[in-house]
Amino acid sequence: MRSSNPSVALVLLSLLPPFILATAPFSYSASKVPSAAALGESKRYEGSSDLVNLRYHMGPVLSSRINLYLIWYGRWSPSQQSTIRDFLLSISDATAPSPSVAEWWSTVALYADQTGANVTRSLAIAGESSSPSLSRGATLTRLSVQQVIADAMHAGLPADHRNGVYLLFTAAGVDVQDFCRAVCGFHYFTFPSMVGHTLPYAWIGYSGRRCPEVCAYPFAVPSYMGQGTTAMRPPNGDVGVDGMVSVIAHELAEMSTNPLVNAWYAGDDPTAPTEIADLCEGVYGSGGGGAYTGAVASDGAGRQFNVNGRKGRKFLIQWVWSPVRRSCAGPNAVN
Ligand SMILES: *[C@@H]1O[C@H](CO)[C@@H](O)[C@H](O)[C@H]1NC(C)=O
Repeated sequence: MRSSNPSVALVLLSLLPPFILATAPFSYSASKVPSAAALGESKRYEGSSDLVNLRYHMGPVLSSRINLYLIWYGRWSPSQQSTIRDFLLSISDATAPSPSVAEWWSTVALYADQTGANVTRSLAIAGESSSPSLSRGATLTRLSVQQVIADAMHAGLPADHRNGVYLLFTAAGVDVQDFCRAVCGFHYFTFPSMVGHTLPYAWIGYSGRRCPEVCAYPFAVPSYMGQGTTAMRPPNGDVGVDGMVSVIAHELAEMSTNPLVNAWYAGDDPTAPTEIADLCEGVYGSGGGGAYTGAVASDGAGRQFNVNGRKGRKFLIQWVWSPVRRSCAGPNAVN
């Protein structure tokens, strides 16, 4: 099923990439808004792997155990934080029933670097920092995001060169450059001039109040999709947080396979890399693509999900590109 309005899809297709490049002060890798155009591309990629030229560019992948450092910017409720923590801790939790978050990550772990080292399956939360009072204000740029990370280090988070990955979560009421307009999250690495170190990080914003139909799709749907598309019910009861979980999954998968933006990506332009989750945006199950998420499950209360996590949690997260199958892959595939 496609967007009922092909002209909107065309406009987005022609406007989005130049817009991102024109406003980028430096190269970065973004989870773009799921425009009708991008959703259409996912379908194409799933159907025909010849169009995808995902290549390895000789850089490292995150093969050592990943220590996650969480930075909460703005006000978060304990239940929002525990949903996100449980998702992150589910990646290495092999005890959850199939299809599980850990099985979803096994596709990411198929990527290796030139030394033959695969992406790790071991991720832990090693530290957290909070700035409920918005120390750098309610509007962040891509560069001031790095100042927030530097502040968190001054407040006690270690600069963990061996295993550290930094995740910055911005709460409702915080605007970030291009948030909701062109991106829902992005990953990159910090600069020594800003943070004192070169460390991989990602930013993901809470979109529940600002633009759920853009960044928390399919728990809210944009009007251009027409009346036939209804929003799904979020598995953890919070449209914004359940939407963030899929963006977090997207960024972690890409950060692990392309942490310094010189390892795994498609296309010839490292300032606009197409990474392993970009290729599968909007695909959550078999047959997914276009305006269709693919086959996903529903619990007794009608909440949709595609993977199980720890403590009985359920999540709906997008698939990622498998280098072995040369298609998008996820553990809830129906064969
Ligand atoms: C490691 O990566 C290689 C190359 O992609 C793959 O064949 C192998 O299955 C991966 N190993 C694991 C344990 O995922």
